[in-house]
Amino acid sequence: MRVAIIGTGYVGLTTGVCLAFTGHSVVCLDSDCSKIDALRAGQVPIYEPNLGELLEESQRNLQFTTSYAEAIPGADVIFIAVGTPPTPSGAPNLEFLSQAARAIGQHINGGFAVVVNKSTVPIGSGNWVGSLVREACEQRRGGKGAEFAVASNPEFLREGSALHDSLYPDRIVIGADEPRALEVLYSLYRPILDQTFSAPTYLSRPESVVAVPLLSTDLASAELIKYAANAFLALKISFINEIGLLAERVGANITEVARGIGLDSRIGPRFLSAGLGWGGSCFGKDTAALMATAGEYGLHLPIVEAARKVNAWQRDRVVEKLLQELKILKGRTIGLLGLAFKPNTDDLREAPAIEIAQKLIDRGVRVKAHDPIALDRFQREHSKMGVSLCASACEMAEGCDALVLVTEWNEYRELDWECVAQKMRNPFLLDGRHALDREKLTRAGVRYMSIS
Ligand code: UGA
Repeated sequence: MRVAIIGTGYVGLTTGVCLAFTGHSVVCLDSDCSKIDALRAGQVPIYEPNLGELLEESQRNLQFTTSYAEAIPGADVIFIAVGTPPTPSGAPNLEFLSQAARAIGQHINGGFAVVVNKSTVPIGSGNWVGSLVREACEQRRGGKGAEFAVASNPEFLREGSALHDSLYPDRIVIGADEPRALEVLYSLYRPILDQTFSAPTYLSRPESVVAVPLLSTDLASAELIKYAANAFLALKISFINEIGLLAERVGANITEVARGIGLDSRIGPRFLSAGLGWGGSCFGKDTAALMATAGEYGLHLPIVEAARKVNAWQRDRVVEKLLQELKILKGRTIGLLGLAFKPNTDDLREAPAIEIAQKLIDRGVRVKAHDPIALDRFQREHSKMGVSLCASACEMAEGCDALVLVTEWNEYRELDWECVAQKMRNPFLLDGRHALDREKLTRAGVRYMSIS
């Protein structure tokens, strides 16, 4: 099938590369010329494991452009995967979405096409996008519209494991009010639904994945599924963090408590890692957007609101713990292990490290930081904060009064803790992710404390 993808961020680029890999002819479009130039040269503008390899393997089915006239005419499926950044009210900014919809309307022609909302968009956006495409199309063609239908196909990939989540998803959700749209998307996803493609050597198919379930719904339900899924994952994390606070007071071990409840198949073990809480561009934005949508209908979502509050408190708890240990923060030097919002990405959007660094700087702390991947990006996006960046974790430890493990990169599990302890002025580590081995650190001479 011929596929156009508008927006080459994490979602758009991953979707484009995976569909090209499974045999479709894909044109990826972005308004950013430098991104398109880089992609044409085979360079991946984001850090995502294996994306470069899969892009190279799929090259013959992939084209990159900045031109709607090249991408849209003749496409069977047009994905909108543009950014929907948050506005101060919590509602997402739909400017890029409306630009994309209008441009599709101006260029769509020929046979039947399905316009798919892949970006996370508020409930009702399917109808809105449909009206924008129709309007732009009719203006151009003197009142005569083209044949198209709108579908919602929410994305559930996680940064850092985006390709795995796209090729071996738990489910594919398609919301469409027109059966023809569902048929087209069913054909598009068939190689993934039936798992008929040969798996790349570096992304082997998990044994448990034989076929992928397809859930077909109406437009509004698919749109709500996306928000409800992210809100549920976010509140699962906040729940374990709330229990973590109590566990600390009663002398229980939160990791064991999480294991104990997670073994109940009704609860499940994932997204129960207690610590600094969630960051990233999705959970904060989507829970705020869900509350904003509910507000438009005169509703209040107290559970979602509480999950957000608990998440914010987790960052304050870092400062509380450091105060407990160091008594005075002014004039201290504190090193952050990890800047990215989670391992295997260089994404710094809503990264806990940034919020924590700012809270410490506001209290007169000199903040140092290390990250295996995100240092360059931090330098480009946050150089004004005044954080000293260090090329290695061991170098950062020099003269520190405390270290905080913010992102659980694997390499921190294997650090030379003797070397770290010797370099620190006060060998103390606060583990914000329950990721390190308390006994190993204690043997190396580092006092260990975890966030709960
Ligand atoms: C999240 C969802 O997991 C994806 O399904 C969804 O497609 C995506 O948002 C999106 O809407 O685009 P992502 O934000 O990439 O994916 O990363 P997650 O792995 O979900 O992690 C989010 C945050 O939660 C990270 O800061 C992570 O450290 C934190 N987390 C995760 C915890 O604190 N505890 C956990 O047990 C799990």
